[in-house]
Amino acid sequence: MFDAEQRQIEEKINAFCAANGLPEAVLQWKWIPFSGHWGISIAFFQLAALEARQGKKIQVNQRAQELASQISDHLGIPVGFEKLEAVNGYLNLYFDPAVYARRVIDTAIEQGTGFGRGADRGERVMVEFSQPNTHKAFHVGHLRSAILGDGLSRLLAFAGYDVIRANYPGDIGLHVIKWLWCYRNYHAGEKPDKDITRWMGSIYAEASRRLEEAPELEAEIRELYARWDRRESEIVDLWKETRDWSLDGFKEIYSRLDIPFDRYYFNSEEEQSGKVLVNDLIARGIASDERPDGAVVVKLDNLLGLKNDKYRVLVVLRSDGTALYATEDLSLARRKFTDYPDLAKSYYVVDVRQSLHFQQVFKTLEIAGYEWANRCQHIPYELVTLPGNVVMASREGTVVLLEDLITEATDRAYEVVKLKNPDLTEAQKRAVARAVGIGAIKYPMLARENTKLVTFDWETALDFNGQAAPYIQYAFVRGGSILRKGGVEPAESVSPAFELTAAELELIDLLARLPNEVQRAAGELRPLWMATYAYDLARAFNDFYTQCPVLQVEEPVRSFRLRLVMATRQALANSLALLGITAPQAM
Ligand code: ARG
Repeated sequence: MFDAEQRQIEEKINAFCAANGLPEAVLQWKWIPFSGHWGISIAFFQLAALEARQGKKIQVNQRAQELASQISDHLGIPVGFEKLEAVNGYLNLYFDPAVYARRVIDTAIEQGTGFGRGADRGERVMVEFSQPNTHKAFHVGHLRSAILGDGLSRLLAFAGYDVIRANYPGDIGLHVIKWLWCYRNYHAGEKPDKDITRWMGSIYAEASRRLEEAPELEAEIRELYARWDRRESEIVDLWKETRDWSLDGFKEIYSRLDIPFDRYYFNSEEEQSGKVLVNDLIARGIASDERPDGAVVVKLDNLLGLKNDKYRVLVVLRSDGTALYATEDLSLARRKFTDYPDLAKSYYVVDVRQSLHFQQVFKTLEIAGYEWANRCQHIPYELVTLPGNVVMASREGTVVLLEDLITEATDRAYEVVKLKNPDLTEAQKRAVARAVGIGAIKYPMLARENTKLVTFDWETALDFNGQAAPYIQYAFVRGGSILRKGGVEPAESVSPAFELTAAELELIDLLARLPNEVQRAAGELRPLWMATYAYDLARAFNDFYTQCPVLQVEEPVRSFRLRLVMATRQALANSLALLGITAPQAM
C-alpha cells in the first residue's frame, strides 16, 4: 500500500551509500508492531557487516546505529511520515496516521472485491480434495476434506496462484463390488429418483448387513470381483451406470455447498497404468516380487539404508496381481504431472491417518527417479466429532449424512432468522437461512488447526455473539444497513482531520492487514488464519460501531466514518468469500 513511498526512501538510501563509498546492501522492510502508531523499519546490521568485511575496523552493532542515525538525518521527514527514529541499529519510520488511515480506506474501497488479492505468481498448483467413495453415502466424515480443500483452493487462488481443484472419487474397490452384488441380487432394475446419495448409501448398508449375517456370501463377492477384473461387459456397464448415479448425487451436494471442481480423477482409471508402473519398479529392482507366496512390495527403509522403521514397506500389488490403493496412487501422482507438467505443487487434502501411506508413495516415486516427486505434498487433517464423541466417519449406522446435516443447519438458521427479522419475505428468509446454515457448518471446519479434532455442535456453530460465521455475517449486514441509512455514498476520499479514537485505529489496523493475512494463510496452508482474521475484523467493527457514532456526528467525521464502514464491509465480504461463506444482504 505504501510501495511508492518505500521505493523513494530506498533510492535515497542507496544514493547516500553511493555518495559515501558504502557497500551496496539489500534493504529489508519490516512492519513495526502496531501500538497506536503505524510504522516500518529497516535494520543496518547487514550494511555494517559488509563494511567490516571490507576490512574497516568497526564494531557492527555500534556502526549500524551510526548508519541509522546518519541516514535518518539525510532523509529528513519524507512526505506521508510523521517522525523518524534511529534506535539500536534500526531506522523506524512512523506514518502520519491521517495519511495512513486514508490510504488504507481508499485502497479497500477502490480495489473492492480485489482488496487483499496477491499479484499473479505465474505458478500453477493442484489441490486434490473431498474424494468421496461412489456407491456409498456422503457422510459428515467427508465434510472436512471438502470444506478445507475448498477453503485452501480459494485462498491459494486469491494469493496469486493458478489453482486446479481436483477430485478423486473412489469409484472401484471392494465397496463398489459389494454394492453391485446387493443391487443385482435384491434391487435389479431399480433407479434412484431423488435423494440419490441416500439411496446409494442405503443399498451399501444393506449389502454390509447381509454379508455380516451370512458370511458365506463372501464367495459371491469374490466371484463378482473376478468378473469385474475380466472386464465383463455386463458388469462394466452396470458399474458405469450406477457410478454416474453416485456422481450426480455428489454434484448436488457440492452445489448446495458451493464447492466447484475443475478436474475429476478416478481410482478405476489408475488400476491398469498403476500395474504397468509397478512392473517397471520390479524390473528396476525397486519393488520386490514375492509372489506367489507374498505380494509385490517396496522395502523403503532397506532401499534407503535406514536402520530404524521410518517408511517401512509399501505393498504395491496383491499376490493375485490385483491393484491396491497404493498402486493407484503411484499412477495418479504421475498422471497429474503428465496433465500439468508445470505444477509447482500437487497437494493432497486427506485424513491424517493416511500420512504414512502418502510418505511411502511419494518416497517410492522419488526413488524411481520422478523429478516431480518432491512437489507432492500431503495436507493432513483430523476428524470431526459430534458431542458425545461420535466419530462421524465410523461404521454404517452411526454416520450422520451430510444431506441431513445441511438440512438441519438450514432449518435451525431459519428459526433464528424468523425470530430476528420477521419482516423479511419468505424467499428472503429462506435465502438467509441457507447462507447462515452453510456458514455455520463451514466456519468451525476452517477456524481450527488442520490437524486438531473439530467438535461440531450447533450451539457454537450458530452463535450470533461468539466466534462463528453468523457473527461475522451479521457485522457485514450491519455495515450495509448503516450505509443505507447514511444516504448518499461518500465517494470522495476523506482525510481524518481529527484525532482518531482507539476503536478506529484498531479497525484501520486490521483492515490494512488483510493482504498480509492472505499471504500468510496461503503460505502456511492454514485457512485458520483467515477464519480468525474475519472474526477479529467483525469484532473490531462491532467495537467501533458501539463506541463511535457514525450517522449522528458532524462532518467531516461523518463522511470519514461512513467510508471506514464501506471499507470494512468490503474486507468482511472478501474474507467471507475466502472461506466460501456467503455474505447475506439482510439477516
Ligand atoms: N477415497 C479415499 C478414502 O476414502 C481418499 C482418497 C485420497 N486421495 C488419494 N489420492 N489417495 O480414503
